Amino acid sequence: MSLHASPTCFSGTTSTPEVAIVGAGVIGLGIGWCLAKSGCSVAIFERGEAGRGASWAAAGMLAAGLEAEPGEKALLALNLESQRRWPAFRQQVEAAAGFDIGYRNEGSLRIALNRDDVEKLRFDYEFQIECGINLQWLNGIEARQLEAHLCPGVQAATFSPNDHQVDSRRLTAALKAAFQGQGGQLHETTAVSAVDVVDGTCRGVVVGDDVHGADIVVWATGPWAHDPDVLPPAALPPVRPIKGQMLSLQMNPKMPLLNHVLRAPKAYLVPRHDGRLIIGATVEEAGFDDRLTAGGLLTLLEGAWQALPSVEDMPIDESWVGFRPGSRDDAPILGPSTVDGLLLANGHHRHGILLTPLTSEAISQLILTGHPPDCIKEFSPQRFRKMKEAMS
Ligand code: FAD
Ligand code: GLY
Repeated sequence: MSLHASPTCFSGTTSTPEVAIVGAGVIGLGIGWCLAKSGCSVAIFERGEAGRGASWAAAGMLAAGLEAEPGEKALLALNLESQRRWPAFRQQVEAAAGFDIGYRNEGSLRIALNRDDVEKLRFDYEFQIECGINLQWLNGIEARQLEAHLCPGVQAATFSPNDHQVDSRRLTAALKAAFQGQGGQLHETTAVSAVDVVDGTCRGVVVGDDVHGADIVVWATGPWAHDPDVLPPAALPPVRPIKGQMLSLQMNPKMPLLNHVLRAPKAYLVPRHDGRLIIGATVEEAGFDDRLTAGGLLTLLEGAWQALPSVEDMPIDESWVGFRPGSRDDAPILGPSTVDGLLLANGHHRHGILLTPLTSEAISQLILTGHPPDCIKEFSPQRFRKMKEAMS
């Protein structure tokens, strides 16, 4: 079996393929689980602990609506499709894992605190409504009726009834359990040092002194995807790390200060059922510098305090840094690389948790049928090659 850059070159056999996946974040685990359910033999190789990369850091917002930005219409369609799949995906993951993943469906609120914020909110609201997103405009009083602890000066808000959230750490734990429950092989603390390419075709992955043979290799290494030590130069995806600092505060779970995901002008706040209040996130071009900074935390705490003044009494629970896998056009890179048999599932940037159902199902479908589903065709790695050709 081989999967080439052109889907017409696929030569499927009646047997299911043996698949090796590099990276056990939400993307690698999600694809692995879908394939294992379909009867494929799947091995995932993770150099650290499963779910401890970008997926560990995420706020878990499933924010197709409120994060929609001008210039990202194709991505919006992809995000909305994945958001639509989330309730069924959630049910299946929880049933397979045997525990809940902290999915909450109260929707999200975005607030404006001064006149400038209101102008920006209005501009984005009009764009998002034009895109068909389900949103409600609220005045300050209506916003405070939804969230009583909001700062009294809140001027206006938009409410998105479909932008929910999930606990991304519980999600990765559940995907890991579901994958292993289907007989998938997970090799943690096992780095892949190279992909084994023979005559232009990927035959497996190199692990220590061994080659683990596979019909298809999926490269799902998140922000570490552009790794010239492991991939041949022509297959390298244009992915870079985009640093995000985050922290969490501890609320009283019986009397939470907040019930909806809240997007304030300088920070977002995400209340979990266990009482944690996640506050995020900075967006920094700082390579893999994983240090928290005074300025980063100050911005987040100030942004949270302006929106919800009572946070000042809450104990700090945890603080951390993560790296978003940002691609050159901020959209995911999904499909065959230039090397036969090597697939890319990278570049999920700010939306990897939201896109987990769609990417998992679409890449599995591509592997099982040899054809990419329509929804991911625009996100093929080929778009960067076409761009390069057009420029030369
Ligand atoms: P990862 O989870 O990073 O997994 C990749 C894995 O590959 C890692 O575990 C790594 O160790 C492994 N690996 C790398 N190289 C090798 C190798 N050579 N051999 C073996 N293993 C290897 N998304 C949302 O949808 N909603 C949010 O609210 C949200 N908030 C975010 C907030 C922050 C601060 C950050 C940083 C991200 C956020 N994201 C959010 C984005 C989301 O976290 C990512 O898009 C998603 O987790 C990417 O998943 P992944 O599986 O591709 O990468
Ligand atoms: N999607 C939220 C973030 O990337 O911070």
